[in-house]
Amino acid sequence: MMQWAKIGASAAALAIAAAAQAEPPRLVRQGSATQISVQGKPMLLIAGELGNSSASSAAYMAPHWKRLKAMHLNTVLAPVSWELIEPEEGRFDFSSVDALIRDARANDLKLVILWFGAWKNSMSTYVPAWVKRDQGRFPRARLPNGQGVEILSAMAPATLEADQRAFAALMAHIKAVDDRQNTVLMTQVENEIGMLPVARDYGALADAAFKAPVPAELTTYLQQHRDALVPQMKRLWEEQGSRTSGTWSEVFGPGHAAEEIFTAWHYARFADALARAGKAVYPMPLYVNVALNRPGRLPGEYPSGGPLPHLIDIWKAGAPAIDFLAPDIYFPNFVDIVNIYKRPDNPLFVPEANNADHPQVPGNAFYAIGKLDAIGFGPFSIESIDEKPGALGEAYDLLEQLSPHILAAQGVGRMSAFRPKSLYDETLVQEPVTETIGNYRFTVAFADIQKPVATPDTGNAAGIIIQTGPEDYLIAGQGITVTFAPVGAGPSLAGIDSAWEGHFDAHGTWIAGRLLNGDQTYQGRHIQLPTGDFQIQKVRLYRYQ
Ligand code: DGJ
Repeated sequence: MMQWAKIGASAAALAIAAAAQAEPPRLVRQGSATQISVQGKPMLLIAGELGNSSASSAAYMAPHWKRLKAMHLNTVLAPVSWELIEPEEGRFDFSSVDALIRDARANDLKLVILWFGAWKNSMSTYVPAWVKRDQGRFPRARLPNGQGVEILSAMAPATLEADQRAFAALMAHIKAVDDRQNTVLMTQVENEIGMLPVARDYGALADAAFKAPVPAELTTYLQQHRDALVPQMKRLWEEQGSRTSGTWSEVFGPGHAAEEIFTAWHYARFADALARAGKAVYPMPLYVNVALNRPGRLPGEYPSGGPLPHLIDIWKAGAPAIDFLAPDIYFPNFVDIVNIYKRPDNPLFVPEANNADHPQVPGNAFYAIGKLDAIGFGPFSIESIDEKPGALGEAYDLLEQLSPHILAAQGVGRMSAFRPKSLYDETLVQEPVTETIGNYRFTVAFADIQKPVATPDTGNAAGIIIQTGPEDYLIAGQGITVTFAPVGAGPSLAGIDSAWEGHFDAHGTWIAGRLLNGDQTYQGRHIQLPTGDFQIQKVRLYRYQ
């Protein structure tokens, strides 16, 4: 018999009573899900990422912390830049990091640190001036005509060593000030790495490496993972005869694709070496984020060589010390993209889920967390909406209330989430979605079932269903209508035993509101979460003949 966890005050009290251990947060498995465990307790990251320059000033941030907390975030993604922490070579100044940690703690918030080191959005503008100005020691990537770009070459050992020293110093500092409190949960290595405006670096070191054989680690990986390679990679490699040795053009073909794979490999090796240097000091979870490419563009026309969908294998082979690859999603086809990045070897985390004021962000948060067991979710420029958080604040309120139930259900088949899928061209797939959760099959429609026409709000619908007992479900969100049918042997019809609206208080105790029946359940036919009104209903179903 399945054990239904009792979630609420006692778990919270126990966690508070437990003595803090000196250890970093870590990733743990629960069924098919990966979760982040902080002081032995899983945590769902209800997050948002700060604008690029905000965290450089504690004064600028001062009014925001409280507001971010009030909009139900538990985690803030905040940049830490190389230029701020190592203004002169070997002289570290961690005052900006200390201020972030102090202010996050004062507001009961956690941090994900974004390491703006050698690269930020392809470019190398966050490196200290002593790096920028010394192009002999820290060479730039070069165009085919020899012109340098403001992108450090990934081929230069001195650049890797300098970035490693700074990153390891940052990790050592975090360990020193935070290994018992775990305010810092994980760190992003660089930001949106990618080569522009050509598919590879044409400097002397890169030219020589491009003519050299593909490293055996990569060809061995391709052989060992042949059946699981992403389709584009499998096709490209097999078209050249699945070669296990040869130059990049021999193994991956004569076009720009081979150049981009070469770039991806060297970026991945760099990120891996950085991650290993950091983990040697303080082994917290580390990830790399990616700027996605628009369909139809060629390598070089978009930031090339990052952990893009078609390059996931190269990054998995080249950067085993990176715990996961995380997509930044500003395109409308969120559902398709997150499904690419959720893999058995890659838990989902969305560090930049569009701009915070985009109306589909709440639905995307529900989908990533409830359907794909995401570790967390964070829209960009979160502080820009903290005075008027609107729908995102309401959605985050629900996710915060539900978080113990979500964490208990991730990876064990007791939960799903729903939003109408948006295609790349913004077409909405509005058809209802049917899924079995426990002993009932749920059909979720994204419109008022009595007036089933799409409205401008249809695309923003958000729903999550969590099974909490044999016939008990939490159904939450807005803009959905839910019908149900039994599965398996027994009576063939399902009805509503009871449906209560309500909320969970700060201790996780359910506080019931109205008992919903009559018009609110269409005389027992369905559960309705009205458009624009984020709410939780506690529903018990039953079967009849
Ligand atoms: C993606 C980057 O990763 C962020 O740092 C920021 O520059 C946004 N783009 C701006 O839209």
